[in-house]
Amino acid sequence: MITMRKSVFRDASKLSLSYIPNRIPHRELKLQQLLDYFRGVLEDRISYEHVFIVGNTGTGKTLVVKHFENAVARYRDIIPIYINSRFERSPGNIIRKMISSLDIGRVARGYSLEEVFSGFLSYLIDNKKKAVLILDDADHLFDKHKEFIYKLSRAEEASPSFINNLSLVFVVHSEDVINKLDPWTAAGLHKNIIRFEDYSYRELVDILEYRSGEAFHPECITEEAIVTAADIATAYNYNARYAIELLYKAGLIADKRREGIVKAEHVRLARRETFPAFSFDELRTLELHEKILLYSIAELLSNEDKAFVTMGEVERRYRDNCLFFHQRPVGHTWLWKMVNVLATFGLITKRLSGEGYRGKTTLIGLPSFPAEPLAKELYELIKVEASRRD
Ligand SMILES: Nc1ncnc2c1ncn2[C@@H]1O[C@H](COP(=O)(O)OP(=O)(O)OP(=O)(O)O)[C@@H](O)[C@H]1O
Ligand SMILES: [Mg+2]
Repeated sequence: MITMRKSVFRDASKLSLSYIPNRIPHRELKLQQLLDYFRGVLEDRISYEHVFIVGNTGTGKTLVVKHFENAVARYRDIIPIYINSRFERSPGNIIRKMISSLDIGRVARGYSLEEVFSGFLSYLIDNKKKAVLILDDADHLFDKHKEFIYKLSRAEEASPSFINNLSLVFVVHSEDVINKLDPWTAAGLHKNIIRFEDYSYRELVDILEYRSGEAFHPECITEEAIVTAADIATAYNYNARYAIELLYKAGLIADKRREGIVKAEHVRLARRETFPAFSFDELRTLELHEKILLYSIAELLSNEDKAFVTMGEVERRYRDNCLFFHQRPVGHTWLWKMVNVLATFGLITKRLSGEGYRGKTTLIGLPSFPAEPLAKELYELIKVEASRRD
């Protein structure tokens, strides 16, 4: 008789990216700090506040703001609005999303963004409400849409009654975005900053123990497996997302081999198919021209044994590829902005050339993915998207 070994997972979805765990070990204080900044707004002593959350990828920023969102939702007259600006990339989409979170539903077509924004603010005032807008992964907005940040921060200028009831939480990866703001915008923003330091090895182990306790049968994972995941994540500043994904993949490998228990070696094997910064799925969220740009970089790097390509080469290849996909290329300045966006997402690196190059030029590297499969994946995505636009 064949006995089927059961899966090592009690509930694999507990390790998925969309799952929000109830507890946030080692981040309770950050949540408290965030709530403290908003105490005045929540208790109706002031009308708005601005807070920046800054930290590397996988340090629990999204998790904390999701908990914050839930805490704020318990106040009757305050509307929390969470928007991931990696998915809602343009001001238009963000404002539409803001409106759709009010109970007035959709806005008829034909209104300008200004009108829709001012309608949003009027709604708040007419209904004696305040909104707390949480813009997650907001880095690129500070590069590409500064006027929009300005508008959000000076809501009283767009509001018919000159009242600002709109609080803002910006979640970003680097404090540079704040330092680079123009003086007008900077002057309107309260610069309260909460810094999320990288986890320590010990903290990450705690987090992984908690998370694997929910996902695996207790007898189906060893302590050695958990500390191996934390150890591998050392190389990626203890990125919790990466470590959790390692455990998840290790569980799949253990199941596939029908071994009934997740061991250290499974985690080491999982490493081969886990990329730290970005998942392949997330490539879809890039805009078409960002995809073409990244594709061009991947293509250049997959043909030669090189660590970097120069910005000049990238720009030429990007233009050729636009011709190939029948798209009109963006201008030089916009291309630079796209390079910055890809860099803040951790997909590429950029550094100034040193010796061995004539003159100063920017070098682009690809730390996130192997170039060839990346180019292949992007090619398919671009082909579909470009043909829809032809
Ligand atoms: N303290 C913690 N306790 C439990 N799980 C955690 C903790 N910190 C992070 N995680 C988990 O690790 C993963 C990454 O966390 P999160 O998405 O909050 O990181 P992030 O700082 O927003 O990263 P990014 O900048 O890439 O968006 C998530 O699955 C999250 O649930
Ligand atoms: Mg996040």
